[in-house]
Amino acid sequence: MTKVLVATEKPFAKAAVDGIKDICSKAGYEVALLEKYTDVNDFYKAVADADALIVRSDKVTKEVIDHAKNLKIVVRAGAGFDNLDLAACTARKIVAMNTPGQNSNAVAELALGLMIYMARTNFTPVAGTELLGKRLGIQAFGHVGRLVGEKAKAMGMKVMAFDPFVPADAMKAAGVEVAKDLDDLYSNCDYVSLHIPANDQTKNSINYALLSKMPKGGCLLNTARKEVINEADMEKMLSEREDFKYVTDIAPANDADLKKFAPRYFATPKKMGAQTKEANFNAGLAAANQIVDFLKNGVTKFQVNK
Ligand code: 3PG
Repeated sequence: MTKVLVATEKPFAKAAVDGIKDICSKAGYEVALLEKYTDVNDFYKAVADADALIVRSDKVTKEVIDHAKNLKIVVRAGAGFDNLDLAACTARKIVAMNTPGQNSNAVAELALGLMIYMARTNFTPVAGTELLGKRLGIQAFGHVGRLVGEKAKAMGMKVMAFDPFVPADAMKAAGVEVAKDLDDLYSNCDYVSLHIPANDQTKNSINYALLSKMPKGGCLLNTARKEVINEADMEKMLSEREDFKYVTDIAPANDADLKKFAPRYFATPKKMGAQTKEANFNAGLAAANQIVDFLKNGVTKFQVNK
């Protein structure tokens, strides 16, 4: 019987697991669940006889692939696929996919929540500021970036975006001002919200030179990936500029050192942008449907290792 392994160190909501099981059983597949694992050997064991794999941010390394002798497809239930070793998948002719857009609203809502948390001094009685009339810069205008823009405009913010991969007309049509370049975005925005993937071009790219362009009271918002931040530069910014703020959903390696900058620095205890019942349901079910579509009909629409 075809076996689908759901390996999630950070488990899906029950409704999502039930939905995945339902789709797979209708297709005649069995589902195995590996949740909250702390030992990678448990992942190696569980994947040994799996034909298909669903993960979240779980690292699908070459070692995982080496243990997965029957694997034909791996689906990252979510947007960013930097946790998949694509070369190892391709070498074994394993199709790798993501589920773009399925968890975007959850991440966008958290970005707005974090912005309010920072504006309101970490929900302490100290007088904060309002978002109305403030300028928000969106770095990368994909599924999440667009939603953050829409929601911020509804709160009366002025929204600017930069994305070299999205035509300026599309950004204008979405009602946002188009930044000429990153300098333009960072120097003209009170808040900058990151929605870039982690790849060779973006890793460490948010550095001192860029951050120091932000105006007085500027706040950087990260619901993307920790790898895009130059952590030493971030620490330098927070210690040199007593007005500068950084809020992140992905705690950096130097989180303990940065905590002394609170309330100007805040990291969620565990990455939770996509951790809603709805996002789990949408991304999990999309992953299951993509697996069935691929195994039964050869559909490779969301393949990322072409
Ligand atoms: C994504 O890339 O989809 C988000 O970062 C969500 O990641 P998660 O599934 O680990 O919460």
